Amino acid sequence: MPSLTATSNAEQSFLLRFKEDFLANANSNQLLPSVRELSQRYRISPVTITRGLKILTLEGKILTKPGAGTFVAEKTLNQAALDTSWQSLALGARVPFGEETQILMNPPRADYFLLGGGYPDERLQPHALLNKAATAALRRGDAWTRSHPSGLEALRIWFARELSADFSSQDVLIAPGGQAAVAACLRALIAANGTVLMESPTYFGALAVARSSGFITVPVPIDQFGVRPDWLESAFSSSGARVAYLQPTHHNPTGAILSPERRKAVLEVAAKFNAFIIEDDYAQDFTLSGTPPRPLILDDTDGRVICIRSLTKASAPSMRVAAIIARGAVRERLRAQLAISEMFTPLVLQITALELVSSAGWGKHLKNMRQQLRSRRDSLIHALEQNGFAVPKTPNGGFGIWLPLPSDDLEFTQAALQLGVQLLPGKAFFPAESNGNFARVSYAAADENALLEAAKRLGSIRSGNV
Ligand SMILES: Cc1ncc(COP(=O)(O)O)c(C=O)c1O
Repeated sequence: MPSLTATSNAEQSFLLRFKEDFLANANSNQLLPSVRELSQRYRISPVTITRGLKILTLEGKILTKPGAGTFVAEKTLNQAALDTSWQSLALGARVPFGEETQILMNPPRADYFLLGGGYPDERLQPHALLNKAATAALRRGDAWTRSHPSGLEALRIWFARELSADFSSQDVLIAPGGQAAVAACLRALIAANGTVLMESPTYFGALAVARSSGFITVPVPIDQFGVRPDWLESAFSSSGARVAYLQPTHHNPTGAILSPERRKAVLEVAAKFNAFIIEDDYAQDFTLSGTPPRPLILDDTDGRVICIRSLTKASAPSMRVAAIIARGAVRERLRAQLAISEMFTPLVLQITALELVSSAGWGKHLKNMRQQLRSRRDSLIHALEQNGFAVPKTPNGGFGIWLPLPSDDLEFTQAALQLGVQLLPGKAFFPAESNGNFARVSYAAADENALLEAAKRLGSIRSGNV
């Protein structure tokens, strides 16, 4: 029996789009466009289209009549007559998510120039090392058993040591990826209808957690040196919040690094208001030149900072292993929250992660990845400048550029999509109103040729030539 699953991103993307734009509105027995037409329409190779059509045949959505062509199958009762209109009433008025959550839910489409992607693409991922690590994990007899809810001891030790010798496995909880870790921290620390301070702009995935949990998100503006301690102080004071979610290092989306003086001041402000700081250190492996900034948690003397680190960016998106590093009573709250929402992180992934980071090739892989990202970043900035954009400051890490736009960001990113370039609109990153029009333009998920071509297309929108 042939496989029912798509084997590549391109195939998956074709299936999703074809179902949405064509099958959803097609009539039974309607003739499908030819493979050639579909290939041109979706900008996907005929081989991939043919494979996708085979999957749709297996799903019973289309059928081929030899000599006549391929047709939409008779719709089943389920497809044709299911009346779900009552659900709008039951779901009610409050839609608990917006643009920020759409980004999490819509996977990147392989047929676009992916300048919206938050993960380094497959060419930068260590597939050989990952496969070897996974094989070693599977050779152990216990890879499919349940994990201790706090995580694999040896992996917790590794995360602790990565920070400093002052941390131990007791301080570390393993979570299934950074997003799950962010959700666990916010939900463990903030009561129903509670408030969280967030840099403005901030990571859309953290906003999605806060909004879907019903928290009030109070914006604290940042500049090129990170969050301003005086504004943080005034936000704590006026909102009564006891939690701030911050990214002191390679802030997503702006790339800002919190300056050493401000790090000290931020800790003092949080202490003054008896507040926690969630330090999302998502890009700890991605300082592109020189020494990485010192994590805030290393200067924390009273268990105020909870630090999140993830392995997904440095390895592969499906290596969903992250760590929450926390000290004091809060750790128990976090452990409970993780158990409630995740049960535990799959042991097979944890062992694979441990094998991966302990392998001889890991350090070399990180170095190579940084070098490639540096080169992509420089090419993208150069190409954007050549096409009339002003890039404010070269970020020394992370994955993207926070690009000021000449017109409305939602309209600009829609126009870019029409030209085959995927970007993220700035509005999705703001806890409240935005302070201008921006796009996050990523150099992680597209190679240099793609970046150059994409910058040209963006330039044509900027100059009004489309
Ligand atoms: C700031 C930040 N935190 C957390 C994450 C979550 O990453 P993951 O769940 O893959 O570890 C991301 C991903 O883009 C991010 O940018």
